[in-house]
Amino acid sequence: MRAAMAEAPVGDDVYGEDPTVLELERRTAELMGHEAGLYCATGSLANLLGVRMLVEPGQEVLCDVGAHVARAEMGAHAAVHGLTMRTFPSEDGRLHVDRVAEILSPAAGPYQVSTAAVAVENTHNFGGGTVQPLEQLQAVGELCRAAGVGYHLDGARLWNAHVATGVPLETYGRLFDTVSLCFSKGLGAPVGSVLVSSAERIARARVQRKRLGGGWRQAGMLAAGALHALDHHLERLGEDHAAARTFAAAVADRVPGAVQLDRLETNIVVLRTGRTPAAPVAAAAAQQGVLVSALGPHLIRAVTHLDVTDEECGRAGALLGDLLAAESLAA
Ligand SMILES: Cc1ncc(COP(=O)(O)O)c(C=O)c1O
Repeated sequence: MRAAMAEAPVGDDVYGEDPTVLELERRTAELMGHEAGLYCATGSLANLLGVRMLVEPGQEVLCDVGAHVARAEMGAHAAVHGLTMRTFPSEDGRLHVDRVAEILSPAAGPYQVSTAAVAVENTHNFGGGTVQPLEQLQAVGELCRAAGVGYHLDGARLWNAHVATGVPLETYGRLFDTVSLCFSKGLGAPVGSVLVSSAERIARARVQRKRLGGGWRQAGMLAAGALHALDHHLERLGEDHAAARTFAAAVADRVPGAVQLDRLETNIVVLRTGRTPAAPVAAAAAQQGVLVSALGPHLIRAVTHLDVTDEECGRAGALLGDLLAAESLAA
């Protein structure tokens, strides 16, 4: 990947002259069945632009309570674009059309905020790598179309959903008006996301990206890493899913109940620490070279990826299990 980046032909992307960026945008759009793409520095920026292309200031976007757009983008959609967000409940981030239908409020007139778009996440990060059922994605899409509201996919980890289910990327892509995809997560590129949509929306998003200071010059060096990842790191995501199961099984051997093995779908493992505080366990694991996040007071998230082997994940799971068992005895 580093060699591909070093050798990439580059140009000025603000003028649309970087051949490597153009190639990444074209290939990603084609894979997703969309007309055009826009390479952005982060998934957060791609989501910010994607949602804005569907929602005007003063209108609302609906998403689930644990959505990355609502919880982890620092309020940007409201702070920068003047949108409001309303959330529907979900268990482990799993989408259900009835939850959306209950709060969808298009053309709400002069008294209430109008829903202009629905945003969903696949796979769902805080839900624990949850894969959204295709029929629910389709049902929400039909609901949106019938109501005349937009449909955005935060597909930061859509690659994992595709590998886990075998559903073609294009089948997912065609359900949505705008889709963001990250290259810097499971695919292992250092930087960047692509937003795909119609040519008209992408042209508008390009202007807004520049307005936000996100126009970049010879970004082809970074795009080359993403192209390399597409060619070499996509199909191997199944190995990360297997390693997540290895990790989780090692934890469960030591602390049954800390992890729900039947909920494990992709490369994210959520550990429930019971009454044991998560932060000291995560800190002790870090001291021994295993990095996990304390996502909540009693919740730990572990993510497997291409830089850790199945065997290492087994050892990491054993370490986490031992630490959890020791801490819960001490508590
Ligand atoms: C589901 C989801 N969407 C978007 C993002 C944002 O990506 P970035 O960190 O590149 O802004 C993340 C990051 O973890 C994510 O998990």
